[in-house]
Amino acid sequence: MKEQLRLIRENHSSGSTLAEQARALLIGQKDRIANAANLSALVFMEFGDVSWVGFYFLQGDRLVLGPFQGKPACVTIPMGKGVCGTAAMTRTTQRVADVHSFAGHIACDVNARSEVVVPLILHGVLIGVLDIDSATVARFEREDQELIEQLAGIYLNSID
Ligand code: SME
Repeated sequence: MKEQLRLIRENHSSGSTLAEQARALLIGQKDRIANAANLSALVFMEFGDVSWVGFYFLQGDRLVLGPFQGKPACVTIPMGKGVCGTAAMTRTTQRVADVHSFAGHIACDVNARSEVVVPLILHGVLIGVLDIDSATVARFEREDQELIEQLAGIYLNSID
């Protein structure tokens, strides 16, 4: 782990991309919770202008809060409800420019205004979602969505 933290520091100071930092942080670790916790912390620190970063994991027919950074959040989200439940049910990334105009948005944090939620699909099985929120309207561009999808992929590969 010391070696990984050293790598993270080096990568950071040498201007490595967030994806490279994520790979360095998760490499050699397989634990789903540990890797979700560390990835949340890294993304929250490095992404810029985000208010909440975290995981929900599928348990039966609902999503249950996993490791995250930010304010305390809703513990369970039914499939199909809110942005997270929609991403999970449709298995497609949701990029919402203004959550106030997303019907059924679940307001865990009144300050959250835009968000990206990526479904986590491991070997064809939905295991949860990665949720990133910002207090800025339309914070996330298409390139941000692609980066978040890439980070979700790095997470899925690490726990494989
Ligand atoms: N806004 C989300 C709920 C989760 S939190 O924002 C952490 C949603 O509508 O699914």
